[in-house]
Amino acid sequence: MITRRRALSATLATTGVALTGAGLTPLLAAHARTPPATGPAPAPAQALDKFQRPMPLLPVKRPLGTNGKSDVYVMTMQPARAQILPGAPTDVLTYDGHFPGPVIKARTNRPVVIRQRNRLTVPTAVHLHGAAVRPDSDGDPMDVIEPGEDRVYHYPNRQPHAPLWFHDHAHHLEAENVYRGLSGCYLLTDATERSLPLPKGRYEVVIALRDARFDAQGQLAYAMGDRGRNTLLANGVPYPYFQVAARKYRLRLLNASNQRRFELRLADGGPLVQIGSDGGLLTAPHTTDRIALSAGERADVIVDFARYPVGSSVVLTNTTGSGPAPDIGEVLRFDVVRTAADPSEIPDRLRTLPPLPRPDAEREVVLRMDEGGEHPGAYIDEKVYEPGRVDARIKFNTSEIWTVTNANARAEHNFHLHLVQFRILDRAGRPPEPGESGLKDTVFLAPGETVRLQAVFDTYRGHYLYHCHMFEHGVRGMMATMHIR
Ligand code: C2O
Ligand code: CU
Ligand code: CU
Repeated sequence: MITRRRALSATLATTGVALTGAGLTPLLAAHARTPPATGPAPAPAQALDKFQRPMPLLPVKRPLGTNGKSDVYVMTMQPARAQILPGAPTDVLTYDGHFPGPVIKARTNRPVVIRQRNRLTVPTAVHLHGAAVRPDSDGDPMDVIEPGEDRVYHYPNRQPHAPLWFHDHAHHLEAENVYRGLSGCYLLTDATERSLPLPKGRYEVVIALRDARFDAQGQLAYAMGDRGRNTLLANGVPYPYFQVAARKYRLRLLNASNQRRFELRLADGGPLVQIGSDGGLLTAPHTTDRIALSAGERADVIVDFARYPVGSSVVLTNTTGSGPAPDIGEVLRFDVVRTAADPSEIPDRLRTLPPLPRPDAEREVVLRMDEGGEHPGAYIDEKVYEPGRVDARIKFNTSEIWTVTNANARAEHNFHLHLVQFRILDRAGRPPEPGESGLKDTVFLAPGETVRLQAVFDTYRGHYLYHCHMFEHGVRGMMATMHIR
């Protein structure tokens, strides 16, 4: 039976007050210059019943208006209480009261201007991940919005369609701020994408995945590098079900976790057709049984539920990462509840990508962290991040090949460049898999692995970050600055 509940978002009661009690201590601790000395909070032995609640659709944020040629938004970062678990609501940090944040829909060549109002008790900085924007709108860690203040961000959208997302980036606070809720999706579309007969409207669904650890009071427990975040959330709800029609759906997946990597499969091994990645559509669809997403990565995937009889279900499983299998092995359940006409198609050709120019320069980047120890350091080229220090000088309007190596024997990393969408040339000496052969801004690096990528720096000049997108590695120092000039 079809219900209208799929359109409901997580029940939220916005509170006008700051977090108190247990919620406040970790924020203050993280605000200090050194990471907090607290170990992981005791694990609650709560067995959550799965597939009890519908997965909410994320609310789409409407512009306040338009000033001639831009869409103008006002967004308020505010504390809220979200009904995540059965029982007591959870204190969260939000964009506009939503956990996770709302979806912004933007169009190529139509600028977006967002006034961000910080009504939290911590400084914030808003970064639009995957976008080419001027440095003063990039959410640099030192360029923060103090509590009570506002800041206007300008997003020119002079780039092709892409599933971008926005999240906090305040120095030393980003890991905890994002963990507590400060992330949202930003779908940039263009004529190329819109001309394709892909599933649209209610058949195109954003799914923001992440992990979390809850304490016995149902509050988000935060500790740096906690490996016990074993509750998986899809659009803010643990292990939801999602009612679908027996037809094709376009799933816009985001891994918004601090650290966790997902390997997603349908429980019956059924086909997933990947049509896009971080920087938009692939050149051609790619059929697989597995979608891997490290923290910060996105995938655009078509699932045809026509393969399943009405009344049946299929679970989206996760086959990697730390944690007990009953907690981390299943993400959500698709319930096939009705038939529906399906005029959508997956074209054989999705887009063309321009050939890469001859590179002007090459450089090497080494990611490494101390394995073990209470406060492991994390480094890029053996240096801890220092705001203002320039680590890579790049000539404007040139193209570079970066050889990025994970020098750890056990730890995973990934690598994210601000400002650009790059192409992966090879991984461990072999050509990239089809799923990562399109435009990327974040790339996974297994222990010991080397990836070569190529980027073109032809949009803006100035200082931009590059870093491991496992936020707590970044907080520990695995972050650096490039200067394009
Ligand atoms: Cu998602 Cu520095 O970025
Ligand atoms: Cu970014
Ligand atoms: Cu890392």
